[in-house]
Amino acid sequence: MNLDRLMSKHLTRYFDGGRTIPEEKLQQLLKFLRSTPSSTNIQPNHFYVLATPEGKARLAANLGERFQDNGEKILNASHTVILTTRADLPESHLDGVFAKERADGRFADPAKQELWESMTRDFLSLRNYQYKDVYHWMEKQTYLALGLTMMAAAELGIEAMPLEGFDPASVDRAFKIRETGHTTTVLLALGYPDPAKVYSSPVSRFDSDQLFTFL
Ligand SMILES: Cc1cc2nc3c(=O)[nH]c(=O)nc-3n(C[C@H](O)[C@H](O)[C@H](O)COP(=O)(O)O)c2cc1C
Repeated sequence: MNLDRLMSKHLTRYFDGGRTIPEEKLQQLLKFLRSTPSSTNIQPNHFYVLATPEGKARLAANLGERFQDNGEKILNASHTVILTTRADLPESHLDGVFAKERADGRFADPAKQELWESMTRDFLSLRNYQYKDVYHWMEKQTYLALGLTMMAAAELGIEAMPLEGFDPASVDRAFKIRETGHTTTVLLALGYPDPAKVYSSPVSRFDSDQLFTFL
């Protein structure tokens, strides 16, 4: 990965509508997305991968009135992923996580798995009843998956553009997402840049002395 290039480039606002991510690369990226870690291994996500013109058009048409300008990005992207997060955390989800960990042999010693499950329940009880931020906490996991996948895309030579400019209620309605117990958190457009419209101005970020404290 060329970190110097990554540090000096703008995110891609204009995709080349004529280029598609090769299937093998896409599958590698999705395999990576599937592997991204989450706190307590809670895995609160479902991902909608829009690969067809129809899928992308449905999303572009349902971003909400204020966010029409993001439509073109989605239509010209090779693929766009809708990253959704569970709207709540029912016991059945936790049961599913633990059952999969057991099936995958996450802990060789069953006693360790049991200890892990009880520690996870304690932690979730804190989030539920003390910090009262379960949904916010789950969405933070979604953003971690987003960021890591942006880096993986760079490694594969794919441009990845996160989009928060959309109305989640509208996107949820268009793809019947609430019916699954999830809600839309963020979008990720993937593809290749339109070479005629790549920004070449400097990237603007705060200076290091404002950002870092060394102790
Ligand atoms: C989580 C996230 C969501 C973003 N959503 C949008 C968006 O909806 N539309 C858009 O044009 N840019 C969006 N951006 C791009 C930012 O505005 C952009 O990265 C920032 O202004 C810095 O510009 P640069 O990437 O060109 O340096 C988003 C960036 C991030 C990290």
